[in-house]
Amino acid sequence: MKEKIEALQKRFEAELQEAKNSEMVEKLRVAYLGKKGSVTELLKGLKDVSAEQKKEMGQHINLLKKQVEDSIAHQVEKIKSAEQELLIASAEQYDVTLPVQEAEGSYHPITIVQRQLEEVFASMGFTIEDYREIVTDYQCFEAVNIPKDHPARDMQDTFWLDNGQLLKTHTSAAQNAIMKKYGAPLRAVFPGRCFRNEATDASHENTFFQMEGMMIDKNISISNLIYFMKTMLSEVFEREVDVRLRPGFFPFVEPGFELDISCLICGGEGCPTCKHSGWVELCPCGMIHPNVLREGGIDPEEYTGFAFGLGLTRLVMMKYGVKDIRDLNSGNLKALSQFKHE
Ligand code: PHE
Repeated sequence: MKEKIEALQKRFEAELQEAKNSEMVEKLRVAYLGKKGSVTELLKGLKDVSAEQKKEMGQHINLLKKQVEDSIAHQVEKIKSAEQELLIASAEQYDVTLPVQEAEGSYHPITIVQRQLEEVFASMGFTIEDYREIVTDYQCFEAVNIPKDHPARDMQDTFWLDNGQLLKTHTSAAQNAIMKKYGAPLRAVFPGRCFRNEATDASHENTFFQMEGMMIDKNISISNLIYFMKTMLSEVFEREVDVRLRPGFFPFVEPGFELDISCLICGGEGCPTCKHSGWVELCPCGMIHPNVLREGGIDPEEYTGFAFGLGLTRLVMMKYGVKDIRDLNSGNLKALSQFKHE
């Protein structure tokens, strides 16, 4: 029996050398210490050993058992730390002592102006909301008082999706959801990308940005609207800007206006950008229609509010004197990288 124990010990040591991963070690453990493992079998064999030898052999076997257990535990540890080291070695390496490289690139001019506007409105107590680009007919039209088959739908050439949804044609598509989210009173601005199926030229694009705003409270009137518009525009252009209101029709406001600013490209003299009128249409707006408030869960008897749909892309063109709207979407770095965040 003694030889058997010694032979087993040798075999174990040899096999342990070969066990190079956790799986192999586990197999080895089962082969030696498991219910039918070799060491366990040896212990079971003790019952056939003569009484004099039993004690000595028992000690030998138990010693072997302990050795096997310890060696296996040790091997498991060794493999674990080797695996960890491998993981660390293969991970991305940083040299924290390297000097910082100046980041190249610049913000898109629309991003710059959008953030500037957000700051101006946030300072006046407006929350800034995000909204999706794919919307339902309800959100884009019905909820803002444009029923199915209403002729006002023709004002916006829409990209329809096969599933009946659409690419939002104006940021007004978020009005209803925001009213339902906050209830009255509320002040919110919500910038977003809009899409219309239009032929492109120097001042039209199928993809453009708007920044919508709503203020709903008791006793809100047109003077509030004019005040906020003037403040916002003076901040953006860093000077007093002349504005004028003309009547404008949008089903979701009553009364509705077109807010024009004096053309900053020609200073009001008349140029191709302002179609020689000296004024540029910038921000349709008006008092929110009672139907729209009601649809948003707000009582029009108690609250009134204004809404505006600022043409963010057009504002950027005015601010920076960009003459062709297509430069903004073209990804032309030569044109776009001139704009640095002040
Ligand atoms: N949603 C309108 C458009 O894109 C603009 C608008 C917004 C008009 C809010 C009035 C009030 O044409």
